[in-house]
Amino acid sequence: MADDGALPPSRSHDPQYNQKRSDPFQFGSRFLENGDDPFEFNAWDHVETDDAYKEYSEQQYEMQRQSPVSDFDKHRFNSDPAKWWNLFYKNNTANFFKNRKWLQQEFPILGKVTQEDAGPITLLEIGAGAGNTAFPILAQNKNPKLKIHACDFSKKAVEVMRSHEGYDTEHMQADVWDIASDELPPGLEEGSVDVALLIFIFSALSPLQWKKAVENVHRVLKPGGEVCFRDYGRGDLAQVRFRKGRYLEDNFYIRGDGTRVYFFEKDELAAIWKGEKIGASATPASGEAASEPLAEPLFDVEDLGVDRRMLVNRARRLKMYRCWMQGKFRKREIQ
Ligand SMILES: C[S@@+](CC[C@H](N)C(=O)[O-])C[C@H]1O[C@@H](n2cnc3c(N)ncnc32)[C@H](O)[C@@H]1O
Repeated sequence: MADDGALPPSRSHDPQYNQKRSDPFQFGSRFLENGDDPFEFNAWDHVETDDAYKEYSEQQYEMQRQSPVSDFDKHRFNSDPAKWWNLFYKNNTANFFKNRKWLQQEFPILGKVTQEDAGPITLLEIGAGAGNTAFPILAQNKNPKLKIHACDFSKKAVEVMRSHEGYDTEHMQADVWDIASDELPPGLEEGSVDVALLIFIFSALSPLQWKKAVENVHRVLKPGGEVCFRDYGRGDLAQVRFRKGRYLEDNFYIRGDGTRVYFFEKDELAAIWKGEKIGASATPASGEAASEPLAEPLFDVEDLGVDRRMLVNRARRLKMYRCWMQGKFRKREIQ
């Protein structure tokens, strides 16, 4: 402690003074260092999980594996996943909208393409849901030539976007499209998209759909086009907390509302986007074909990071970890 009795910045709870405090949506600015008391704040950035949490996670995974989803339910949830997302968007009207202040900070390209003089830009958001990414981008857009195509395979989600007060057809087009289908999104041709956004959608796919999804993104992007990616990482508390009867296969689960969620490892994601490993471990579900690895890399992985955040329940002195994967991939030309 300083001689004058004032707390050093790292110990202060005054947000102006304490450099370790950050807006909850601004990642990466509060680091846990030697000498810090983890229970002093309720969130810390870039924290490695401790041994106790790792052990607890392994025990949970074993428990989950021992009590998988029944074959009947596997079929129920895998045969028509859009149905469960439609229900989600029907039932969650109050929880749709989030203010994603971190988007531009994490994906600087979004700042560039929305500048007044950026010129004609086509942005495709895939698995756009209620428009939590598209609408904040539109709200701060100054580029008269920006067009956002916001697609989702849930009809209900598309209805929600189309009835949003910010839905401006001059700059936005919301459509039903399944990233794992044989078609391209309505109104888009091969090689026509500058930037593709995939925010928490890849985790909703079965591993058997990864190959088709990556191929479709490659098809629709312009040469050199960019993918902005964010999704759940392995060991996230949402994974660790799954109870009995939710396990589909390793790292792939059914939530209580019938939607599916996968948790990615960094190397695995890089391999998926390069085309080295595509759903190799998955057991084909009905209606889904097993996939072969891609012959040539489709994307260069320019950036891929693990964003970890430790949440602390100060009253119960419990540590929990959030874990997200964030990446930037660029379309390679196939020779
Ligand atoms: C976790 S939500 C994320 C929504 C939105 N990106 C966000 O971050 O708020 C996943 C979304 O992916 C959509 N989705 C799942 N599988 C899809 C597929 N095969 N093709 C297109 N969208 C899909 C779901 O309908 C849902 O809206």
